[in-house]
Amino acid sequence: MYLKNHFSRIGFILAAAGSAVGLGNIWKFPYVTGEYGGGAFVLVYLLAILFIGLTVFLAEAVIGQNAQADVATSFVKTSKSKNKNWKFAGFILFSGLIILSFYSVVLGWILSYVFTSFGTLPSDAKTAGAAFETLISKDIAAQIAYHTIVAGSVIFIVLKGIKEGIERINLILMPLLGLILLGLLIYSFTLDSFSTAVSFMFSPDWSKIDGNALLAALGQAFFTLSLGVGTIMTYSASLPKNVNFVKSSIMVAIVDTAIAITAGLIIFSFLFEAGAQSSAGPGLVFISLPVIFSGWGFLGQVIAISFFVALVFAGITSAVSMIEPSLKFFIDRFNFTRRKATVICGSTFYLLGIVALLSMTSAYSESLTFFGKNAFDLMDFMTSSVMMPLAAILTCVFLGYFVDKELLQRIFTAHVSNLVFNIWYFLIKFIVPIAIITLFLNKLGIL
Ligand code: TRP
Repeated sequence: MYLKNHFSRIGFILAAAGSAVGLGNIWKFPYVTGEYGGGAFVLVYLLAILFIGLTVFLAEAVIGQNAQADVATSFVKTSKSKNKNWKFAGFILFSGLIILSFYSVVLGWILSYVFTSFGTLPSDAKTAGAAFETLISKDIAAQIAYHTIVAGSVIFIVLKGIKEGIERINLILMPLLGLILLGLLIYSFTLDSFSTAVSFMFSPDWSKIDGNALLAALGQAFFTLSLGVGTIMTYSASLPKNVNFVKSSIMVAIVDTAIAITAGLIIFSFLFEAGAQSSAGPGLVFISLPVIFSGWGFLGQVIAISFFVALVFAGITSAVSMIEPSLKFFIDRFNFTRRKATVICGSTFYLLGIVALLSMTSAYSESLTFFGKNAFDLMDFMTSSVMMPLAAILTCVFLGYFVDKELLQRIFTAHVSNLVFNIWYFLIKFIVPIAIITLFLNKLGIL
């Protein structure tokens, strides 16, 4: 069956996996794992994905697939009361545009590293650190240029729609991403430090695990599965109703986790091989890795290019998924053409992105700092610490208390056993909201 505005089953899995697999997997997961000392953190993270992430993923998927509508309409349609006020739950989709603003800037940095990799990479940590610092604090024109290329590509892709744009780009880029990562993994097998990387990631050191590590794992599970923004809900709305959403969701979580682990193994093998620190933080990919690549001569250059290209691919497929919820909202609810919706949402995130990047430069940081945070950090904080957790709590409470249980049971048991449904329902009603409320209060500094 070919539906113009629908994904095929495999198209949905690739697109949702494309959304899930992003900078969060390849850039953030390894450095957070490094900061929390490896093994034990990985284990906690896997549990967070399984019990919390997947549960919320299924929650968004079930709402989307059954309502087959934009986020606001989906809440209204799924609610027991059909109360129109549920449309206000649609606020969650604006997080996507805000995240996209600074995500596009970071993707721009990565693109600049692709170009640098063709030339000369910095050969020591000091030079590498200074180069990165110059890029983000001084090089306004270059940053705007890269951000423009990224934003332009995202806009170009989504203009073509679900099938011809989003599904197609994922069908192309996801397999390529898989191939590049496979190549890098095979190369890391040949390094002596591969076994050190394996034991770093899989032998748990429980002394490193405290409340902060648990919450970091939970936050990472949310971000990496693209939850709390309406992305999964929106993509699922384009999943034909007869497709088994449970199986598809599990597939996505598996692909996402496999890629995060693979990226971790590759990066830690590289770091240990060069005798570098595993706890370098956000600069790991931008500062530590280039130095290592530079020490490996021509091969290092090939690896550097492949690595940064893989990051760009992973990031682009995530970026398109951040804008789509807003587009669908304007198209479905206000009858905008896709072009008009794209122009409005595209220029919004593009301009916000420029504000974000200016706020990190020495020239403008002072005038673009609010409540002690520059605009970039503020957008990150507002989304990942405030709006996304709120959206997730809202989604759980909504399903647990404002939606007909029989309806959910009927939908789930068409694909899975009653036991699985009951476990999911229990998690969504009691466990997940408590976990996320804890996370939320902690991020706000209350707990
Ligand atoms: N999951 C992506 C990553 O790991 C980021 C992402 C894409 C995202 N879409 C999202 C995060 C929607 C939150 C919400 O990089």
